[in-house]
Amino acid sequence: MSKVLVLMGSPRKNGNTKLLCDEFIRGAQEAGHEVDYVAVQGMKVAGCLGCGACMANGGECIQKDDMQDIIAKVDAADHIVLASPVYYYTWTAQLKAVLDRFYCRLLTLGGKTFHLISSCASATPEYTEMMVNSFRCFYPCFYGEGNKEGGIVIGYGTQKPGDIKGSPAMQEAYEMGKNL
Ligand SMILES: Cc1cc2nc3c(=O)[nH]c(=O)nc-3n(C[C@H](O)[C@H](O)[C@H](O)COP(=O)(O)O)c2cc1C
Repeated sequence: MSKVLVLMGSPRKNGNTKLLCDEFIRGAQEAGHEVDYVAVQGMKVAGCLGCGACMANGGECIQKDDMQDIIAKVDAADHIVLASPVYYYTWTAQLKAVLDRFYCRLLTLGGKTFHLISSCASATPEYTEMMVNSFRCFYPCFYGEGNKEGGIVIGYGTQKPGDIKGSPAMQEAYEMGKNL
């Protein structure tokens, strides 16, 4: 059994990205994994200050906000799912703030398997290349050993909440969870 952390970055708490996460979580739980789901919208997570204090003090961020809880969940997780709709080709601001704050683990984060779940209005993958590149450039930044990619699921052609229902991405998300 693995510990799984889902960081969901859509401001729409019941939007398409959340529905994909639900399917992923259903699969993961059926397979016996323990899942922690965090919707970052509404949480207090300030942007990284780039002050470097965490580099000198063993990895503690000087900003005291909800990121302390999130980073504790990151530390505990075997699998980390970064879930975000595509906003101007990349993460939502809400999730980007969280990702920047991973900086306090830059020297140590290792042994994690990273997954990407996303949804976008465009119908074709060329509009999601930047998102995928950003994901694939993020997890190798950390100096701990053993970080790797577990899978990517993207739902296309979704605008209103619920548009994702019936998309093949729903099944793909379920299977990514089931096959962790
Ligand atoms: C500010 C903003 C920027 C967006 N940028 C893009 C984009 O660059 N490419 C795209 O295909 N869809 C874009 N979209 C559409 C969303 O990615 C899409 O509707 C997604 O399914 C929303 O996910 P949600 O229901 O989980 O919030 C954007 C939507 C918003 C509100």
